[in-house]
Amino acid sequence: MIRYLIALCLGTSAWADGLPLAEPVFPPLDMAEVELGHLLFYDPVLSGSRTVSCATCHHPRFATSDGVSLGIGDGGVGLGPDRVFDAKNRPEQRIPRNSPALFNLGATEFTSFFHDGRLEVDETRPSGIRTPLGTEMEHGFASVLSAQTMFPVLSGDEMAGHYSENDVAQAVRQGFLTGPGGAWDILSNRVEALPEYRDRFDQVIGERPIAFTDISNMIAAFIAFEWRADDSPFDRHLRGKDVLSTDELRGMTLFYGEAGCASCHSGWFQTDHGFHAIAMPQIGPGKAARFERHNRDVGRMRVTGRSEDAFAFRTPSLRNVTQTAPYGHSGAYATLDALIRHHLDPVQSLQSYTPDHAVLPAEPFETDFVLLTQGREVDDIARANALPVRQLTDDQIADLLAFLGALSDETALKGRLGVPDAVPSGLTVEK
Ligand code: HEC
Ligand code: HEC
Repeated sequence: MIRYLIALCLGTSAWADGLPLAEPVFPPLDMAEVELGHLLFYDPVLSGSRTVSCATCHHPRFATSDGVSLGIGDGGVGLGPDRVFDAKNRPEQRIPRNSPALFNLGATEFTSFFHDGRLEVDETRPSGIRTPLGTEMEHGFASVLSAQTMFPVLSGDEMAGHYSENDVAQAVRQGFLTGPGGAWDILSNRVEALPEYRDRFDQVIGERPIAFTDISNMIAAFIAFEWRADDSPFDRHLRGKDVLSTDELRGMTLFYGEAGCASCHSGWFQTDHGFHAIAMPQIGPGKAARFERHNRDVGRMRVTGRSEDAFAFRTPSLRNVTQTAPYGHSGAYATLDALIRHHLDPVQSLQSYTPDHAVLPAEPFETDFVLLTQGREVDDIARANALPVRQLTDDQIADLLAFLGALSDETALKGRLGVPDAVPSGLTVEK
């Protein structure tokens, strides 16, 4: 039926490889869980110092991201580009990767998370999940999206904080994560101690003690509900309900045809969920372990250990993409125009990259653009590039931009429940 509708609306010639046929599947949600997750998502109580919530880096004001290339977690004050250092608790570094938007993550096809897919569904394991944190931390999560929550709360730079500055940071530093007195336990106890949360959890899990996995399951339900985004003009067009403007249609035809975008950005959500090296400029601290001294981010290779995965990053879904700037795994490009031009000649674009493309507010860090001054590092990124040079006219680029604009879903951008006025901890909610 869908195939027939598409053929009817477009003529089949527009639809080469990457034809989006399969409707996404969104499993049903329990509203009591969603509403509980809503409060937890915006509540700084889940961060060691009680200052950072999930929304600090995933805020609807910035289309569920934070409006900067690389954000600041623990040790920052304020939101988005206005976030500055806390004078008493200066952050050690920026977060090494761009904060991704959270649209449609409740759809079943999203099975790998993070720019490098280091958390993914793995049917060969008893838990069904593979994470770099080890098997003891894989159980009790309702989904792989739920398992994702454990990362930010245990990350010193993001939410836990550093050294002995608070109880969670201390536990993380000593390696106490899941057991009694560990980081998860401390956070669950904080939630347990707030009567409004306890009452709400009674409705969902009964009277047993709240586990960290319960908290993350609620947050996952909330994300899946709040930011489901499959009602854009493009979706309506695919479902035969609406017709796109002529420039949007031309852009769509280009995207799924001649411009070759859909060889990676395929399917209903413009992603093959695969990993590709496209010579994105590397800015910021990079992903070195604490004892290493480099500012590299080798992407998927960090997960698989295979050299052919060097500098490959996950193909992002492009839903609401006109609102989610900056772009790329390190947020190297602040505008869609520059990002698309990068795709047309990746190596040349990498080599001529200038810092004014990025959005790195607060004070400068020494690591901000350091890798791009190291010729050998830049050569390595260039050598791995798998995206061929392609010629497009300015008019064609304008049409592609028009098409990307037709991927916006206003309901999801606004959020269905929105930012709560207050959270049970009484801590500040950034509006
Ligand atoms: C300090 C900023 C920061 C905070 C706070 C934060 N995140 Fe994130 N989030 C990020 C960054 C950066 C990434 C990508 C990291 C990577 O790829 O290595 C990410 C990735 C994710 C993803 C994966 C998205 C995808 O498409 O792969 C989800 C889901 C997510 N965060 C949810 C949360 C939740 C839930 C919380 C609160 C418990 C939270 N985040 C707190 C910055 C943050
Ligand atoms: C070879 C695979 C491939 C092709 C072909 C491709 N892209 Fe991409 N695209 C990617 C990858 C991988 C990224 C993310 C790179 C990173 O994070 O370092 C990306 C990033 C993007 C982004 C940024 C999204 C965000 O949220 O950061 C946009 C927009 C985009 N591509 C549009 C396009 C358009 C338009 C075309 C066609 C002209 C295209 N891409 C062709 C692989 C591809």
